[in-house]
Amino acid sequence: MNDSELLKATNNAYDMVFKSVVDLSCLKAALELNLFDILHDAPQNLETLARITESVPSRMERFLIALRQMGLVVQNNDVWALTSFTTQFFVEPEQHRNLTMVPFIQYISEMIDQYFMHLADVVRGKRDFVSTIPYPPQTAEDNLYFETMHRSNIHFPVKLLTEHGQFTHMRHLIDVGGGIGDIASAVCEEYPELQVTLINLPSALELISDNIAKRGLRGRITPLALDMYRDAYPHGDGLLFSRILYPMNEQFCTMMCQKAYEALESGGRILILDMIICDPDKPNYDYLSHFLGAVGMQFSVLDFKSHTIYPQVLRNVGFEEVRFDQAYDHVLYQAVKP
Ligand SMILES: C[S@@+](CC[C@H](N)C(=O)[O-])C[C@H]1O[C@@H](n2cnc3c(N)ncnc32)[C@H](O)[C@@H]1O
Repeated sequence: MNDSELLKATNNAYDMVFKSVVDLSCLKAALELNLFDILHDAPQNLETLARITESVPSRMERFLIALRQMGLVVQNNDVWALTSFTTQFFVEPEQHRNLTMVPFIQYISEMIDQYFMHLADVVRGKRDFVSTIPYPPQTAEDNLYFETMHRSNIHFPVKLLTEHGQFTHMRHLIDVGGGIGDIASAVCEEYPELQVTLINLPSALELISDNIAKRGLRGRITPLALDMYRDAYPHGDGLLFSRILYPMNEQFCTMMCQKAYEALESGGRILILDMIICDPDKPNYDYLSHFLGAVGMQFSVLDFKSHTIYPQVLRNVGFEEVRFDQAYDHVLYQAVKP
């Protein structure tokens, strides 16, 4: 390595060792101290903050200084306040429903003790993946737990889909594994003539119905319980796989695209929206955290296939007019059944 490459590599190595522990431990502690919510209600001086959080003032001060260095809080004289970055991602998840990290911090904090800190044992086969909430989810409560995470990072995928998805002449979209319905709702709000059938697990249907009703879209989006891997899909002139296929290998993707082909009428459109997981310059740590979970499972279909296989997969199944758009770290493939 020359010196410029070595400096870049040094930064990377430093991030790997120091950044991960600093970032997560600070976020976890701030959440446990309720610090961000308190500062969101109103900026506070050190004394008040230490009192409300039952902390030692001198320790709280050093903790705040660390958070300030990380861009999470600002200090004006003796008053501490949140930055706009912290307000967006780490407080009021309900207000930032489609772009918040709060549910993920809770999940990762739990999993770090139960699983991630014991990966060597996992690899040796002495420990398996464990999760407090079973996956696939069994009850409405389990579904709410996972759907709360799924809906927390859809701001940019939805933007890509509504900017580039060709919905103009579509009448009936099948949204396979459609989450809690936020994506279908966003598309319906843009295209007032569109009807959606949203496929999910039986235990998720009530959540979806409630969400759709809240958004005033009852009658436009119909939840349907189906096993998306085994059952045939209802007919339509559009079919969406949003963040369903990205971890699946070529064979599995081909099987799912065949099911889509059978469900679509002639002239119907398939849309595949995926996050990018294979950029060698930008490892996808969100997906890597799931993939590491799969290391501790007896069986897993998770893979690191490249999204560039889709045009061939789609053509092999019989689709034509393959189109590709990429933005916001996501890709959107579309194709038409002749
Ligand atoms: C990764 S999430 C994607 C959610 C949404 N499409 C998005 O992009 O945010 C997978 C979705 O598929 C649903 N799901 C999982 N297994 C399923 C199955 N066998 N049949 C139908 N839906 C399933 C989950 O409940 C969840 O809503």
